[in-house]
Amino acid sequence: MSSTSCSAIAVSTLTEGCRLDVCMKKTGEWQLAEILRIQESNKLGKRKFHVHYVGFNRRLDEWVDEEDLHFQNVQKLVARVAPQDTSTLKRNNRKMKCAESKKATEQKKAIEVLKNVEMIELGRYRIKSWYFSPYPQELCKLNCIYLCEFCLKYCPSQACLGRHLCKCKLKHPPGKEIYRKDTISFFEIDGRINKIYAQNLCLLAKLFLDHKVLDYGIETFIFYVMTEFDSRGFHIVGYFSKEKISTEDYNVACILILPQYQRKGYGTLLIEFSYALSKIEGKAGTPEKPLSDLGLLSYRSYWAHAVLEVLLSQDPTTKGERSAKTINDISQLTSIMPEDVISTLKSLDIVKYFRGQHIICINRDTIAQYEAAMKKRTIRIDPKCLKWTPKNWS
Ligand code: ACO
Ligand code: ZN
Repeated sequence: MSSTSCSAIAVSTLTEGCRLDVCMKKTGEWQLAEILRIQESNKLGKRKFHVHYVGFNRRLDEWVDEEDLHFQNVQKLVARVAPQDTSTLKRNNRKMKCAESKKATEQKKAIEVLKNVEMIELGRYRIKSWYFSPYPQELCKLNCIYLCEFCLKYCPSQACLGRHLCKCKLKHPPGKEIYRKDTISFFEIDGRINKIYAQNLCLLAKLFLDHKVLDYGIETFIFYVMTEFDSRGFHIVGYFSKEKISTEDYNVACILILPQYQRKGYGTLLIEFSYALSKIEGKAGTPEKPLSDLGLLSYRSYWAHAVLEVLLSQDPTTKGERSAKTINDISQLTSIMPEDVISTLKSLDIVKYFRGQHIICINRDTIAQYEAAMKKRTIRIDPKCLKWTPKNWS
């Protein structure tokens, strides 16, 4: 594929794959965007365009009108077809089947870059989706999908949900409550035992996770759902999934805080909980890669705090002096993988080379920033409230 650039063109000649400047609704600024889908003319004869802003996260993809497009410097994608000779024709025939299945996969991928669900209603909240999620197609045509906030069953209408709520006895996620402190609880759910709940949770999560949810069998995962309690029940705030057996020492597969609870410190709490489990298991863990942009921000911040907490803590046996700690010591105390400890030390820029050896040197600014951040972390995981023993899944 190559691109050709043409100045001002007519709106009717725009095709899927074209790139041009589009006015982003959120910021009101012009950004280069690619047209993913064109919706044919409405009654007023105008077309709608589903665009992806180049270099921006896909959750910002949106439908825009003709008025939001800037027709200067439209880049059109042109497919180049390689010439074929007869000798390659036979080989190509054999490849046809393979190519067909590849094409089907590509078509599926192309569909999956488009948001298909407009909105969901979950308990007290109406939430706009961020990404594609494989809910049944007939539900995606609706303006809103209605979810039972306890069992996560999906319904096409409020009336249908109402009928379900008369029957649904759940006031909390299924599974076992393994942690409770104040209003925060954690429930452990086995994907094999509560398969339908786990499937519904993954469908819901996919609305806000771009890259992956589960690659294979739901039965091979455990789900840790964090809830907040009030007089109506235990409301889902977020969750993370974890492989029962991980050969790569992943202690989190997917992690999510629902949008209505984001940026309040709950993500940090969920991450802290995942490492609390690893501490009980007596081994270091790491989140499955790739991390999303928001996942990376949250993990970097958690790791920095956890590493500094260990380095700045006073050792009672050394009369208030701070004892020397190796990377493995830090890893053992935090259950953060040595690789992640190293990347954190690097990003904090606190390892210095001094008189022939590496020393840790934390300046006042870093300490002040750390102390301010820790003051904001008003809710912490209290290991005493965690009633859990690891299972031997093998
Ligand atoms: N913009 C800038 N910074 C942000 C944002 C944002 N939108 N969201 C979180 N942060 C920063 C916070 O400032 C905070 O840093 P600080 O401690 O230095 O202030 C840090 O990230 C954590 O903030 P929390 O409020 O604890 O995190 P939150 O509750 O919002 O949850 C999470 C973070 C889970 C990543 C959430 O954004 C989310 O669910 N996103 C969608 C799903 C996702 O991307 N999950 C991670 C995928 S990777 C994987 O699954 C292994
Ligand atoms: Zn229900």
